[in-house]
Amino acid sequence: METSSISVVVESLGAYVPPSILSNADLEKMVQTSGEWIFERTGIRERRLAAHGVSTSDMAIQAAISCLASSKITAGDLDLIIVASASPDYAFPATACIVQNAISAKSAAAFDMEIGCTGFIYALATGSQFIASGAYKNVLVIGAETLSRIVDWTDRNTCVLFGDGAGAALLTAGTKGQGILAFHLGADGEKCDLLSLRGGLARFPASPDTLAQGLHYIHMEGKAVFKFAVRSMDSALNSLLVRIGKTADDIDLLIPHQANVRIIDSACQRFRIPREKVMVNIDKYGNTSSASIPIALYEAFQQGRIKRGDLVVLVGFGAGLSWGAIAIRW
Ligand code: ACO
Repeated sequence: METSSISVVVESLGAYVPPSILSNADLEKMVQTSGEWIFERTGIRERRLAAHGVSTSDMAIQAAISCLASSKITAGDLDLIIVASASPDYAFPATACIVQNAISAKSAAAFDMEIGCTGFIYALATGSQFIASGAYKNVLVIGAETLSRIVDWTDRNTCVLFGDGAGAALLTAGTKGQGILAFHLGADGEKCDLLSLRGGLARFPASPDTLAQGLHYIHMEGKAVFKFAVRSMDSALNSLLVRIGKTADDIDLLIPHQANVRIIDSACQRFRIPREKVMVNIDKYGNTSSASIPIALYEAFQQGRIKRGDLVVLVGFGAGLSWGAIAIRW
């Protein structure tokens, strides 16, 4: 969907990753795996883990503070805070409300969105619409995860993949022709069983039985998700480019969800974009779900890989199954 006559720009970016590193060598001592297998099959060398007592809102707050620190806009100017997370502090209250209180964003509405790893793309698209409609001026969008609390550390199929962290983007009204040009969002609920965490809520209330079955952990059909990811990122990108009348050659920087470097490579090959134009930092953080794209975006900006006027495209996929892409003229 194209945005209205009010343009929506990314005013500033922020990120936070916890200092504690879990390396592939550390994982070799925990499950039957090898650092070489993990790196070759996923591109991951290490991931960050939140310390005991640190949760999703704590990292979201740090990302929010980092984002506001590089902007003229203050917490008091925020109209809305959206937190995308598959591992929020609680089912309720919303993690966004906890952030709102911690940063004293007294005028801001706040809500969470849960669309797995596509969460940040959906949240950015949603936040942009509040500005495009004229309802709000300043919207803070955060992707934050403590996936280390919802993975089964005895399951080598999943525990090697995930990490913790948070990233944020501040949206505001800006100059025409700049900012978010278009987005494309999609979902296929028929595939909802491929990626899920089912225990502890209405369908399977927490009980000794749900605990014994491990329903409070991420469940993933890795191979099927892999195939879906490659196809869905390629088709999301093509649908997005049709909307803005551009081709892959016009993209200056592509920031994909960091789930597996082989997924990124296959999708880029299919989409015909050279690897130099693709931001990859999965080696350092693993898959941080909703936080992966904003952390990568923040790092790309810090590294000087994004200049004014560049066409930056974000693309992701995740539980739902869901997918999405956003084009931003920086
Ligand atoms: N170490 C060593 N061996 C392992 C490990 C490990 N950590 N994990 C799996 N294996 C084994 C498997 O048991 C299997 O052994 P088998 O043949 O004896 O059964 C073998 O390695 C090959 O397994 P595959 O599943 O074929 O490995 P694959 O190359 O597909 O890689 C992976 C697995 C990394 C999970 C891949 O399928 C993948 O990345 N899928 C997508 C994951 C993803 O993007 N998830 C998004 C989740 S985000 C969210 O919403 C929270």
